[in-house]
Amino acid sequence: MEPIDLLVKGIGRLFTPPGNAPRYGAEMQEISAIIDAVIAIREGRIALFGPVHEVYQLLEGVEIRSTIDVGGRMVTPGLVDPHTHLVHGGSREHELVLKRSGVPYLDILDQGGGILNSVKSTRAASEQELYDKASKSLKEMLLNGVTTVEAKSGYGLTLEDELKQLHVVKRLNQTNSIDIVSTFMGAHAVPMEYKGRTEEYVDLVIDKMLPKVASEGLAEFCDVFCEEGVFSVEQSRRILLEGKRLGLIPKIHADEIVSLHGAELAGEVGAISAEHLLAATDEGLAKLAEGGVIPVLLPGTSFYLGLCKHARARDMIDKFNLPVALSTDYNPGSCPTESIQLIIMLASLKLKMTPEEILTACTINAANALGRGSDIGSIEVGKRADLTIFNAPNLAYLPYHFGINHTFGVIKDGQVVVW
Ligand code: NIG
Ligand code: FE
Repeated sequence: MEPIDLLVKGIGRLFTPPGNAPRYGAEMQEISAIIDAVIAIREGRIALFGPVHEVYQLLEGVEIRSTIDVGGRMVTPGLVDPHTHLVHGGSREHELVLKRSGVPYLDILDQGGGILNSVKSTRAASEQELYDKASKSLKEMLLNGVTTVEAKSGYGLTLEDELKQLHVVKRLNQTNSIDIVSTFMGAHAVPMEYKGRTEEYVDLVIDKMLPKVASEGLAEFCDVFCEEGVFSVEQSRRILLEGKRLGLIPKIHADEIVSLHGAELAGEVGAISAEHLLAATDEGLAKLAEGGVIPVLLPGTSFYLGLCKHARARDMIDKFNLPVALSTDYNPGSCPTESIQLIIMLASLKLKMTPEEILTACTINAANALGRGSDIGSIEVGKRADLTIFNAPNLAYLPYHFGINHTFGVIKDGQVVVW
């Protein structure tokens, strides 16, 4: 056997969902657990893993170039955060006071605040400023155990400023150990200068932005905020279908606040994922299942907006057999946190998901929401050696002991990047 670059030993418990495919409904509960495990890594990928005695037998006579001992700790696949608005200028702490005094999120947006406030700061920021701010967030995410993150544009809302955000994402991906997956979201809000002329803005997205983003290869996915007072189902359909024609896979912020039937649209256009879904109807959830769409749930957002309602994770898993994924939705307005571990806690408390379902939702299902199920999201021979090492005795401990960071270490592509 070829030499092993890194042997990770002393793994007290290794937990991973099996295989590469999304895990549907009750399958989300099935986690494979190995006590006293080791993982052998070659060229950044998993060469071998299993119980210590079995792997050592197979490795007899094989050169091992380096070894680390994780001291009996718990190891999982590196966590995947499939929905963030990573790159933006400024912050909106003043809105917290408004929200707490009862002003609804969509009213703040309608008055030119909310997303449009971040649009102003993002337009005013240089590429370097955006890069520096997002770099700090990426560091937080990595320290939380995240090894792959999605990043959306959508705070530029002019061709030039959308490209600026996407160039920052590209550069961040080249310079950080965490992998960043790019999504174009020019249809995140209607900019001030197009107020009352949404159709014209949709034309700009379709005629000018999408072709440039696609031809420059700046994004893999195209997302739309399909919401009352933002983009209608018909406008969202036009954008997503045109994006798809140009090779950008559809994603959609659907049925977050009002039940507009964005979930149905996700099924219809063959979206890879549909996000939020608090107000999705049974028909909408059935269409997600029919269309093989992954629901990406964002309990941090419903919690932070103070909505009494949360996405119906239990129905999605138990009744609709859906492959639920979880994400932070990190953004400066509705969920200003990089902490996937806070989301893990909220998924337990508010979405009533089990620790096993939560791990599946943060790994293989999240990886599939980014079209990367065969590369990341589970511990399998041949996959990237992306691992998170936790200071926790078992999976249930993560949502239980809340508000602290349980990550002890992170291995990305076979390199120790947090220790
Ligand atoms: O996913 N819903 C739209 N977009 C973000 C919020 C962005 C913001 O408020 O800046 C979300 O919640
Ligand atoms: Fe979002």
